[in-house]
Amino acid sequence: MALIEDLKWRYATKKMNGKSVPQEKADYILEAARLAPTSSGLQPFKIFVISNKELLEKIKPIAMGQSQITDCSHLLVFAAWDDYTLERITNVLSEVYKERQLPEAQAQQHIDQLWGMYEPLGQEWQQHDAAKQAYLSFGVAIAAAEQKVDATPMGGFDPAKLDELLELNKLGLRSVVLLPLGYREVENDWLVNLKKVRAAKEDLVTEIA
Ligand SMILES: Cc1cc2nc3c(=O)[nH]c(=O)nc-3n(C[C@H](O)[C@H](O)[C@H](O)COP(=O)(O)O)c2cc1C
Repeated sequence: MALIEDLKWRYATKKMNGKSVPQEKADYILEAARLAPTSSGLQPFKIFVISNKELLEKIKPIAMGQSQITDCSHLLVFAAWDDYTLERITNVLSEVYKERQLPEAQAQQHIDQLWGMYEPLGQEWQQHDAAKQAYLSFGVAIAAAEQKVDATPMGGFDPAKLDELLELNKLGLRSVVLLPLGYREVENDWLVNLKKVRAAKEDLVTEIA
């Protein structure tokens, strides 16, 4: 029940008050994001946590001037791999098999199987897939509203410009989605008291028994 109550409490905060989120709460949210499931456990993305005020000022115009960018305490930038490579897949899976103390040959078999599947699908598909995985982590971070930290899921920004500013291309990454963390400024937020509207269960869910 607690999760449902937290999801009702949270909303896409439009006005934040500039107060700092304690580092342990930000860390908790990042830990939740880290624990999100991803396809084959690849976690094909990085999360940048930006609290530098000068940098946030530069990001704001790239994000349609949205005030949460500079009024937040931590800005999470989810940036996905710009492609799947044999090297990237090998790095992740070798580590997984090593941590689990499983045979290297088994890891190699898994790597070959995955690469055999991903390589022919091409870079565009790979980028799209990596972005989908980043979104899973982003979703879990949003659910970490149980910390009573506000967050605005944010797709309203120019990814090419943000990639250039953060030099993400040098790292083989592309920005996908943003999540400013902070606290709502109740008196100046037009959304805070409006009803949360969602599709009715019968429209959203089809049960096939
Ligand atoms: C991927 C994504 C991108 C979004 N982009 C923005 C955005 O750029 N700015 C904003 O204020 N809200 C943004 N939203 C918030 C949605 O409009 C909001 O989550 C939705 O209307 C449901 O309302 P609620 O989150 O308040 O329950 C985005 C949400 C998602 C999931």
